Amino acid sequence: MKVAVLGAAGGIGQALSLLLKTQLPAGSELALYDVAPVVPGVAVDLSHIPTAVNVKGYGKDDLAPALVGADIVLIPAGVPRKPGMDRSDLFNINAGIVSNLIEAIADNCPDAAIGLITNPVNTTVAIAKRVLEKKGVYNKNKLFGVTTLDVIRAETFVAEIHGKNPAEVQVPVIGGHSGTTILPLLSQTGLDFSDEQIEQLTHRIQNAGTEVVEAKAGGGSATLSMGQAAARFCLSLVKALQGDDSVIECTYVETDGSDALFFAHPVRLGPKGVEEILPYGELSDFEKKAKASMLDGLKNDIQTGLDFVK
Ligand SMILES: NC(=O)c1ccc[n+]([C@@H]2O[C@H](COP(=O)([O-])OP(=O)(O)OC[C@H]3O[C@@H](n4cnc5c(N)ncnc54)[C@H](O)[C@@H]3O)[C@@H](O)[C@H]2O)c1
Repeated sequence: MKVAVLGAAGGIGQALSLLLKTQLPAGSELALYDVAPVVPGVAVDLSHIPTAVNVKGYGKDDLAPALVGADIVLIPAGVPRKPGMDRSDLFNINAGIVSNLIEAIADNCPDAAIGLITNPVNTTVAIAKRVLEKKGVYNKNKLFGVTTLDVIRAETFVAEIHGKNPAEVQVPVIGGHSGTTILPLLSQTGLDFSDEQIEQLTHRIQNAGTEVVEAKAGGGSATLSMGQAAARFCLSLVKALQGDDSVIECTYVETDGSDALFFAHPVRLGPKGVEEILPYGELSDFEKKAKASMLDGLKNDIQTGLDFVK
């Protein structure tokens, strides 16, 4: 497996690259690309960790060689939020970055599975779809918005409330990746919550990113938990691409459009990427209402991405 990380010198990129260096299967290749001049140093630093994963750094002008032969490309390149910013405030800068990187993927590794981390994910994934379509290489089974951070946050907070080991808690999270478009399905955890707890927990999961942004006080957004989330998603994808078609992750993918063109679902992954988009099952009344009231916003976010690429 060759995994390329674009934006590898950033907060998420470095945490993610460390986890991949220590956890990718032996014999894998890790290509670290960034426009920041420190990226070769990040690669040298990681290369001293004794695992059978070969790490190589690629600077600003070496995007093509970083991508050639990649099976998976993860993209955390772009600017993060500062206090007071919404994820959509990042659109103006990040849309162009994502669009250029996706063009390079289309040219150099059109069959790679792509995991987009750059915000606003609701919109950047739609940009990626259009760019890949224009290049004639779009495969909806291989384009993912990485929403795993919402899942691990939900698991952590639910475990806290119930005094459980988070590893034993599973919370599907559907919808999108910003504010009210993030919809944790607490009704499907098999655990009991009061109405008040459901409201508070849902609100906390939806605003957990802002909790970090405020605590970092201008120093960026979630990087370490996001590194862990992206590593979990990537390792699931590696297993799946290597032949295991029983891996399930919640992720933001193109659907039949019954909710919105892109919608996070539990997805069964396999050698083709998406093997099956699984139904998210029966929703509680609270979840039905929450879904109905966020769909217009999500559709708007998606349309903004589609319209960006003319
Ligand atoms: N999907 C999620 O759940 C989630 C969670 C947290 C953050 N994010 C998003 O991830 C992105 C990165 O966050 P961060 O905290 O790592 O930011 P950061 O500023 O620490 O790192 C971003 C990196 O991207 C690099 N970069 C910028 N333009 C580039 C380009 N054209 N090509 C390659 N690299 C480029 C920068 O040099 C930098 O090293 C932000 O958009 C943030 O909002 C997503």
